[in-house]
Amino acid sequence: MSVAKLFQPISIKSVTARNRVVVSPMCQYQSVEGSPTDWHLVHMGRYAVGGAGIVFYEETAVEDRGRKTHACAGLYREEQIPEFKRIADFVRKFGAVPAIQLGHAGGRASERGPLFGRVALAGDDAWQAVSSSATPIKEGAPTPRAMDEGDIRTVVQAFAEATRRSLDAGFEILEIHGAHGYLIQQFLSPLINKRNDGYGGSLEGRMRFALEVTEAVRAAWPADKPLFFRISSVDGKGGLWSLDDSVALAKELKGLGVDLIDCSSGGLSGSSAMAPVPRIPGYHVPYARRIKDETGMMTMAPGLITEAHQAEALLEEGDIDLIGMARELMFNADWPVHAARALEVPDYLELLPPEFTFRLKTREEQGVMPINAEGARIPTGVAQYLEDTRR
Ligand SMILES: Cc1cc2nc3c(=O)[nH]c(=O)nc-3n(C[C@H](O)[C@H](O)[C@H](O)COP(=O)(O)O)c2cc1C
Repeated sequence: MSVAKLFQPISIKSVTARNRVVVSPMCQYQSVEGSPTDWHLVHMGRYAVGGAGIVFYEETAVEDRGRKTHACAGLYREEQIPEFKRIADFVRKFGAVPAIQLGHAGGRASERGPLFGRVALAGDDAWQAVSSSATPIKEGAPTPRAMDEGDIRTVVQAFAEATRRSLDAGFEILEIHGAHGYLIQQFLSPLINKRNDGYGGSLEGRMRFALEVTEAVRAAWPADKPLFFRISSVDGKGGLWSLDDSVALAKELKGLGVDLIDCSSGGLSGSSAMAPVPRIPGYHVPYARRIKDETGMMTMAPGLITEAHQAEALLEEGDIDLIGMARELMFNADWPVHAARALEVPDYLELLPPEFTFRLKTREEQGVMPINAEGARIPTGVAQYLEDTRR
């Protein structure tokens, strides 16, 4: 019997992950001046210890003004490199590939976090956000300043510099965050982008900023290291950016050396007839499937993938190449080990650190059999007793 695909190692360029479980980026609102804290070591560390193949650090801003809140991550100073390296090294030490997502909040910067209703900062706490156009991100939000060509060059350069710092910090996969209504999507979507220069108007013009960022990142990121790009496959409810647009973008990104399209959705809403994306299990998979079919690129599609057999079927069907997950892993950071057991992977306990593996294997040998297919735990002594009394 072959090992479940979810637990077969996968190589992308020079990087090999021990399995296909990817911890999708998760903002923690625990950074200090952009830098990681002990919380990040624990947050990232628990997924590496739990057996994931690739662990993404949260969206990390390439500029100070590109953070959403004062507590968001950013990698825009040289002195931060060792602080991020501590996290990347820990993840690697426990068998996972450390990865980082770089982004810029654009017009969504200078707000309070989700626990505080994402309200705009005011007074001395606030800073001037920038965007493709002076279009507020939602009704009642402050108006960002439209970026001129000098601003665009500055931000593209900031992406390149943050890429080099990510490499120096030891991350092995890099993702550009082009989704969720942040700066890159603010250029892509006509909901926000009202420019009439070479960075607006036609699809080609609106894609230009995303492509320039990608070119700069690819040039700064070694050719043998994987580059992912996260898209909002479609805008949110009432939006204007369509899946056809995403396919066109993916084709351009492929030409620039992007290896995988990470399919998400939403972030910007308007008043068109576009329906919201339904929140059903695997809700981004159909978008990823189409992008894969039309571009031949690798894809992933986080969004309510929570079950081992569900993940395995998506890989077996060839719908996606990696299983991105966020909330279920917050709920159960050891999900990969449990999934490996559910999929009958031999030696599933080997995914854990050796001290854990040793103790848990000993426990099994002492009489507690692994959980059976139905999820029932049967101590061997009891099983034998039942056998004997039945005779
Ligand atoms: C706490 C939290 C923080 C998140 N932060 C980010 C982020 O930094 N960057 C990003 O692209 N997506 C972020 N997301 C979205 C997730 O990466 C993921 O795409 C989404 O939660 C859907 O996957 P799930 O159903 O497995 O949770 C976040 C999600 C959660 C729950």
